[in-house]
Amino acid sequence: MFFTAEFLEELSERADIVDIVSEYVELKPKGSSLFGLCPFHSEKTPSFSVSQDKQFFHCFGCGAGGDVISFIMRSENLDFQDGVRLLAEKVGMPVPDEGGKGDAERRARILEINKFAAKYYHSCLMGEQGQEARNYLRSRGITDRTIRRFGLGFAPNSWNGLINAAKQYEKAELLQARLVSSKDGRVYDMFRNRIIFPIIDLRGNVIAFGGRLLGDGQPKYLNSPENLVYNKSRHLFALNIAKNSKSRIYILAEGYMDVIALHQAGFDTSVASLGTSLTEQQARLLAKYADEVVIAYDTDQAGRKASDRAIQLFEKTNVKVKLVNMQSAKDPDEYIKKYGADAFRLQIDRSENHIEYKLSAIRGKYDLENDDERIAYLKDAAKILSTIENPVELAVYITRVAETGKVDPSVLEEESNQVKKEKRKNDRRKLRQQTLRPSLSVQPKARELRYDNVRSAVAEEKLLTLLIGDISFMATAQQYLLPEHFSSETLGKTYQVLLSLYKSNRPFSMALLSQSLTVYEMDHIGSILVKAVPEGDKMQALMDYIEVILGESEKKDLDRKELLLYEWKKMKEKKGLEDN
Ligand code: CTP
Ligand code: MN
Repeated sequence: MFFTAEFLEELSERADIVDIVSEYVELKPKGSSLFGLCPFHSEKTPSFSVSQDKQFFHCFGCGAGGDVISFIMRSENLDFQDGVRLLAEKVGMPVPDEGGKGDAERRARILEINKFAAKYYHSCLMGEQGQEARNYLRSRGITDRTIRRFGLGFAPNSWNGLINAAKQYEKAELLQARLVSSKDGRVYDMFRNRIIFPIIDLRGNVIAFGGRLLGDGQPKYLNSPENLVYNKSRHLFALNIAKNSKSRIYILAEGYMDVIALHQAGFDTSVASLGTSLTEQQARLLAKYADEVVIAYDTDQAGRKASDRAIQLFEKTNVKVKLVNMQSAKDPDEYIKKYGADAFRLQIDRSENHIEYKLSAIRGKYDLENDDERIAYLKDAAKILSTIENPVELAVYITRVAETGKVDPSVLEEESNQVKKEKRKNDRRKLRQQTLRPSLSVQPKARELRYDNVRSAVAEEKLLTLLIGDISFMATAQQYLLPEHFSSETLGKTYQVLLSLYKSNRPFSMALLSQSLTVYEMDHIGSILVKAVPEGDKMQALMDYIEVILGESEKKDLDRKELLLYEWKKMKEKKGLEDN
């Protein structure tokens, strides 16, 4: 049986590779990935990497790699079908032929149980056993009114508080709602001795819960795992409240406590992405309600990185993005506590878009009364200006910087164009070097996948990286390239999958690849995808790759004599071009 593309897509969206791998391997962040000890070979230092962005794992030691489905297949020693089944079970998705029809009923039932649980937790917080939890919330400045507004609760310190209260529901249903867990056949409450934050969707359904310890300890937060009614990348905490505001200027924070503190201080359009990485769906969702988003992520390095990522995601929407400046506070919650709501409002009003933000950051570095420094300032500013694509925006900033730096705007414009040109030239040179000088180390680990034509294969790999990063490049690629032009069968098959996805207007998903490739082939694709996407002018790069692949493929069927003739003709052609 073949699974539908929709099903596999949804499965890979719901089964986050980091969550799934974390069930098997202890992962620690390092650079832009997470690392741990490889479960597929024995090692003492971690060389097993997982990328959340790419939804891919790769072991630099043994070469194993692939998507979440191939991870499960390997770990549990299952074939594709059973791997998918197990994964679907883990994330609470029914497998199509096994009762998709009961879905609506099961969803409704989970929502009912969640509502019951939210009421139960709330009454625990307000009752006798909630004394300590109420004190904790008070110590963090949260009022009773806010508690009611957000429906906050408390899960008592008991293994079966909820289970006993929810006698009218089957154990299996409570398990499905992910409110209880089981071990060795015995069930127990998942949330114990924690403040409970219900997560409510736009229709008012309680879809999940977050639970915070009353003090320090690990893990600080525990969240409902994804299930039939909850897909965390599709929701924003408190959007159900924020959407009622008249304002279309939203504040995006990281955590539950930030948002709650913000609302209490009067910022009623605050929402949280719950964790640091905003997803594309969350950005699109927010764009439906917001004209402008002020990012108020934590001020630590992770928060800054997450802000950059969020800016990129919002660039694909119509939302205007700004960044709020909160010196000497780690997050909005702390900022408001230290300096008050008025000060925060001032920071919001003063928040800058990222170009302004960068420009004002460099302005502070120079003494503009000194000519040498003024020139250095203008050069630095030109670098920032050279990244602006929109001509109107560019004109505005050029005028502004020219005024500050006391030069004619046309000078600044020329300088910024020069920087842009330089950068493009450099990018192209780097690309050419990469394409023309492939090293032997690019050979696949598995012997049966070895490249016959390394030069072509390198271009093929890079082309695929580009396409996987942005399938819209296929519009160009498909005009020139067919799968049979590829020198490597694996890469050609991958191209074929991408091509049919593109033609059927579907987004790329790793799961579809694992359906068409062998486990070894997936390893290899993994090792390609962990390499960085080429920087610079991507369209130009694409054309360069296509040229190499087509050129090499033309040679493929020629015998030795013909090949010499062919090379000779090519050389003459080229010389002819140069002579003119
Ligand atoms: N988070 C999580 N699990 C953790 C840590 C964090 O799910 N172990 C998520 C929570 O949604 C949390 C958000 O990431 O609200 C931001 O984390 P953090 O800044 O650590 O928490 P705060 O919201 O600041 O919580 P507090 O002020 O209570 O420490
Ligand atoms: Mn925080």
